[in-house]
Amino acid sequence: MAKKIPDALLELLSDGEFHSGEAIGRVLGISRAAVWKQLQKLDALSLQLESVKGKGYRLLDTVESLSAEVIAEGLTGISVDVIQELDSTNAELLRRAASGPVASGAVVVAEQQTAGRGRRGREWVSPFGKNLYFSLLWNFSAGAASLDGLSLVVGISVVEALESLGVDDAALKWPNDVLLGDKKLAGVLLEIAGDATGLCHVVIGVGLNVNMRGGESHGITQAWTSLADRLDEVQSRSRVLNALLQRLLVNVRRFEREGLTPFAAQWLRYDAFAEKDVVVSLGERQIFGVAKGITDAGLLQVDVDGQLQSFNGGEVSLRRRL
Ligand code: BTN
Repeated sequence: MAKKIPDALLELLSDGEFHSGEAIGRVLGISRAAVWKQLQKLDALSLQLESVKGKGYRLLDTVESLSAEVIAEGLTGISVDVIQELDSTNAELLRRAASGPVASGAVVVAEQQTAGRGRRGREWVSPFGKNLYFSLLWNFSAGAASLDGLSLVVGISVVEALESLGVDDAALKWPNDVLLGDKKLAGVLLEIAGDATGLCHVVIGVGLNVNMRGGESHGITQAWTSLADRLDEVQSRSRVLNALLQRLLVNVRRFEREGLTPFAAQWLRYDAFAEKDVVVSLGERQIFGVAKGITDAGLLQVDVDGQLQSFNGGEVSLRRRL
């Protein structure tokens, strides 16, 4: 794991002003040579550092470090852990749960992931300080089988939170891609461990593009967008995460009590593909039909030559037929 960059350095440089090497050394309590080493680490994270002789250094990107206090503001029953660099926030919570009980409501959020996981074995590109990469752990007593539909509820929660932030046209591509128009804004990955019929825990991972702009997206193969692109200004990631957790906690608790049924109407409202021509890919096989929403259990329903067929999230991928 790369060495941690002192929060004080990020804080100092994120005001966008020039700071001399000497001044930086004074604030951090380190020598000029050590300052230079720290500045090189910033460079390695693709943060754009400008250096001007006689003036010093400044960051061209503003990086507002994640704040556990702001993230947890007004929320009860959670614990928030902000970590600068992780392989994956999902992997971290799964590790913790494997080595002892973890209470529901544990949240891990990272400034950067070095091995961010996407659905279907893909990588989730996670550049430093740009976006939100977080996971929430929840224990369920009725077993993994009772969790059908939870991933849809997570997608719904993200869209509801976006509405509260002034983005009112986000939609869901089954099972839980969050889209703005035809571009991906957020993705959800649930990982479940434990018993199929008894106690199990689910790690709910969400990646939301917040302040990422064109140059920082090396490696992303899908069309994507970010909140800053949409709202035309840099957003506070901690505030966005606070809004997301508000919706997520209310909805996960409700799902625990009542299942997917109370969320059916919300899904219909947000379904980006309803009544659209679609292609369902099952490995090499392609099935053409018209999307018809979801079943009571949250499976995708497609009208294929006049017959309704249903598909589950683990096995298929879905796209529009243009
Ligand atoms: C997708 O492919 O659409 C799902 C992406 C999920 C990414 C998030 S980022 C935080 C959490 N940690 C991971 O490693 N993945 C999820």
